[in-house]
This record gives sequence, C-alpha cells and structure tokens, in this order.
Amino acid sequence: MSNTFATFEFTDEQHSHALPILKGTLGPSAIDVRNMYSNQDIMTYDPGFRSTASCQSGITYIDGEKGVLLYRGYPIEELAERYSFTQIAHLLTSGELPDSQQLAVFEKELRRYNLLHDQVLSFYKGFRRDAHPMAVMVGVVGALSAFYQDAQDYNSPDDQHRAAIRLIAKMPAIAAASYTYSIGRPIRHPDNSLNFASNFLQMMFGRPSEPYHVDPLLAKAMDQILTLHADHEQNASTSTVRMAASSGANPFACIAAGIATLWGPAHGGANEAVLNMLENIGAPENIPAAIARAKDKKDPFRLMGFGHRVYRNYDPRSALIRETTKQVLAHLGMENDPLMATALELERIALSDEYFISKKLYPNVDFYSGILLRAMGFPSRMFTAVFAVARTVGWVSHWLELKQEAHGIDRPRQLYTGPTLRHVDKR
Ligand code: ACO
Repeated sequence: MSNTFATFEFTDEQHSHALPILKGTLGPSAIDVRNMYSNQDIMTYDPGFRSTASCQSGITYIDGEKGVLLYRGYPIEELAERYSFTQIAHLLTSGELPDSQQLAVFEKELRRYNLLHDQVLSFYKGFRRDAHPMAVMVGVVGALSAFYQDAQDYNSPDDQHRAAIRLIAKMPAIAAASYTYSIGRPIRHPDNSLNFASNFLQMMFGRPSEPYHVDPLLAKAMDQILTLHADHEQNASTSTVRMAASSGANPFACIAAGIATLWGPAHGGANEAVLNMLENIGAPENIPAAIARAKDKKDPFRLMGFGHRVYRNYDPRSALIRETTKQVLAHLGMENDPLMATALELERIALSDEYFISKKLYPNVDFYSGILLRAMGFPSRMFTAVFAVARTVGWVSHWLELKQEAHGIDRPRQLYTGPTLRHVDKR
C-alpha cells in the first residue's frame, strides 16, 4: 500500500483531497484515482491514455526516454541474442526462463497442440480468396471459441494453461493457412521435428508434395522477429485483450479482438505501410520530397515506421532488426536491395532533421521488419499476420496475469458532451 499522497485543490469547492501514490518497481509512480469519483464527484479525463496506467503488470517494462525494453526484467538485447522464441514464450507466460526440463515439457505441449481441427480448416473456404490475412485470422481465431468444450472452465489454472498453449501453438498454422488459402495451395501441416520458427516457415512456403528445406539463417531471423514482437506492455491490442478478458469472455474471442486491433496501420499494420511508402518513394533521391510532406501539417502523410507513443529514443527492437536485415540480405545475395538503400538513407536524413530531432521521432520496430520479411519471401499482406503470431504470446501472458486479479470488469466513464435533458414532442 501507498504511504505517499498527491493533494488536489478544488478551489471552487473550497476543499482538498489526498490521493495515494502507487510505486512500481521501475518507472513512474501512479496516482491512485480509484476512489476519486465516489469521494469527490469528479473524474479524470485522459483520452488516448497518455497519462493513465490502466493496470498493474509484471510482464514487460519500457523506458521510452532511454530506449529500454525488458521482458520480466531481462533486456531484450540479451534475450534476442541468447534465447529461442519458445524460451521467451515460457518466460513471458510463466515469469521465468525455463531450465532444460521445463523447456522440454513446454515445447512438447506446443507440439501436441499445434494442429488445426479439421472443421476449423473448412472455415477458410468461406472467405474470399483475396481477403486480407488479418481478416481471416480475426474470424478463424474467434471461431476457436466454439471448440474445446472439454476445457472451458477458464477460472481453473489447468484450463487457462491449455487455452494459452493452444493459442500460441496453433497461431503459426492459422496464419500460414490464411496465406496458402489465398494462393490456392493446399496447407502443409506442422512438422514436429522442427522448432517453432522453422515450422512456421515450412508451413508458409513448403508445398505439401515435396520436402522443404528450411534455411537455418532465415529460421534464426524468424525466431528473432517473433521474440522482438512477443510483448510490449499495454499497447492498443494488448489493452483490448485485457478489456475483453475483464468481462470473463472466452480467451479465443479475446485474442481475436487483439488481432482486430493489431491490424490498424497506426499499430501492427505499420510495417506493411512502411513497405508501401518505401516503394512509393522509389529511390534515395526522392527522400527530401517525402520528408517535406511528412513535416507539412496540411498533408496527412506521415513517415511510416517513425515515431512511437512510448519511445522518445531509438526503439531497441529496430536496431536489432536493422542488423538482422543486413545479414539476411547479404546471405540472399540482395546486398543492393533498393528498398534497404532507401530506408537507410531515409533514416539518416530524418535523424539529422530538426523536425524529427525536436519531436524525438526515431525508427520503430516496423521500419526495417517489412524489408526483412519481404526478403524472406513474405508478401506484404502477411506482415501483420507474422506480428500476430508473435504477439499472441504477449496477449496470452496478459490474459493469464489478468485471470489472477480480481478487479472486475473494465468500465471507463466519459465526459458527456451531448444534449442536456430534453423531451420528445407529445403531439
Ligand atoms: N511522421 C511525421 N510526423 C510525425 C510522425 C511521423 N511518423 N509521428 C509523429 N509525428 C508528429 C505528429 O504530427 C505530432 O506533431 P505535432 O506535435 O506538431 O502535432 C508529434 O510528432 C507527436 O505525434 P503524435 O501523433 O502525438 O504521437 P502519438 O504518440 O500519438 O503517435 C504513432 C505515435 C501513432 C506511432 C505515430 O508516431 C505515427 O503515426 N507513426 C507512424 C505509424 C507507425 O509507424 N506506427 C507503428 C507504431 S509501432 C507499433 O505499433 C508496433
């Protein structure tokens, strides 16, 4: 409990009220306003949640000023370098990195639950072939709510655990099938001799009729992409998952809500938008015109992949992805990729431009990830689907954390600005 307080003076009412200040283990403290409305008949107003801690959480910490990202206390750079995505998934969902025995059990569970129910596959045929993969994923993941009647006591730790494993395990197959369906290729099932990232690649790119060799460097890059996108505290999609879950909704429906939110271009859809932007810019000599448009307040154009609500410094994930992108391009003989040349030059020019410096706008995780995914063979419409595969670990971790709490349903209030009381004409 808190022993420091903030005092608000409501000068027109001639009284003041002390509010407790809650301290976390890192980062800014928070004024506890939970009883403010009942005690003072006044609410806080924070559209966009710029100054609001919506919950307590022990999963991920971001210091946006310093460009620091920690998963359960560990710096993202150390994790991305030394640990696999399944180890990270264990860390995020359970709180600790697994020892070898815990990892073996965890990976065995993920392999056991990675198949799609045959009836789930029939849902795909209901979608148009040209549907966006995220539209398909929202539908298919939501539809999973109608399965698993045997394990739907989501207040029981066993059923919570099984739902978490099912969601993480099935998501690569769901994403890959949304792609293979769109090109008319029969799906490839998971191959349990492969690790998580390699399995995703073989389901995406392999033909069911012949063996598929997974390139180890691309598998390593995929693993890193999944790790770097696994969680990012209370972003829009995670907050959506938590809010849906606060009503006690089915976890598959909650994750479908997260996928819907992630799809937007201001969130996970940005890497697709970055690639479109780089293609439109075309060549480094056209960059100054793009920078001028981004700075023009009358022009809705923004430099996609730049800026972040929390980071006012270089996004540490972007630095890691930039280096992996260089490695993968070199490995594939694409050192002279024109999109990469344009991106590097765009970054250089923007970071020396007064507009971007003063507003602390740096490349975010999406700036290079599209170039990397494209080089690996992913069509741009699949970029956000890859993000969803990774972020499912974070969504599930937050869902599990929320299930341990007892604060009830999330129900914000509003500052009403509509008509005052009026009556309909009785004539
Ligand atoms: N290009 C040009 N100007 C920008 C950009 C940009 N990419 N981003 C922010 N600005 C400007 C704004 O116009 C604003 O200027 P002003 O103060 O003169 O009005 C100022 O910088 C602050 O921007 P806000 O919109 O208030 O910042 P906010 O925190 O709301 O937005 C966001 C963050 C949505 C990420 C924004 O920077 C943006 O639209 N970036 C491009 C989209 C993108 O890359 N999204 C991915 C985010 S990462 C993720 O979700 C995984």
